[in-house]
Amino acid sequence: MDTPSHRGLFVVFEGLDRSGKSTQSARLVRNLKDQGHQVRHISFPDRTTPIGQMINSYLKGQSQQEDHVIHLLFSANRWEAAESISHDIASGTTIVCDRYYYSGCVYSAAKENPSLSLEWARRPEEGLPRPDVCLFLDISPEKAAERGGFGHERYEQSEMQKRVRELFLRLRSSPDENDFVTVDAGQPADVVEKEVLQIVVKTRESIDAHRSSLRSV
Ligand code: TYD
Ligand code: MG
Repeated sequence: MDTPSHRGLFVVFEGLDRSGKSTQSARLVRNLKDQGHQVRHISFPDRTTPIGQMINSYLKGQSQQEDHVIHLLFSANRWEAAESISHDIASGTTIVCDRYYYSGCVYSAAKENPSLSLEWARRPEEGLPRPDVCLFLDISPEKAAERGGFGHERYEQSEMQKRVRELFLRLRSSPDENDFVTVDAGQPADVVEKEVLQIVVKTRESIDAHRSSLRSV
């Protein structure tokens, strides 16, 4: 059980569209609640804010945005939530989050004629609350497509998804992203669920043992 002096964890799920983020994050939330933890489930983009509505309209193809501009809107959409994330974690609530700045970097840099690099894309993210662990649900774009096909939003096409995966793998090898853990998301959902829970429990133990505070990106 959490005590008030016990901070929450910040857990992020990343992966391609259809990698199972929604299913697995919902299962993790349930498992942690069953263990007695306070948990809040969030996701980015948060389409409910004014900035989120601009992002939503762009993703649905109802508006155009210059590449740097949409990138900065996605980042601003995280910054507007940053204080509430830090606050909850400090008061003992664990945050489970679908997509975060890793998606922010790779999707922008994966565009067909990218006008910005992965390195440029990461700059506006610097200073955000850093996840204690980022679970990368890794699946091939082919297998992801077999799961019922992609939707109709911008970015949901197989060429884009291939470039996104390559960039996720590149980001993973960077020493800056040492919280990144890869999970084989091609396995049955129950197996993925168990692996995810094990990784999160280990992260909890290591944070408690070192009394580590929340870091920044
Ligand atoms: P997605 O998680 O797929 O939303 P939903 O759960 O509503 O389907 O996110 C929508 C798209 O936004 C997805 O293709 C990834 C992209 N994206 C970015 O380009 N930059 C970002 O910073 C984030 C968080 C997402
Ligand atoms: Mg999606």
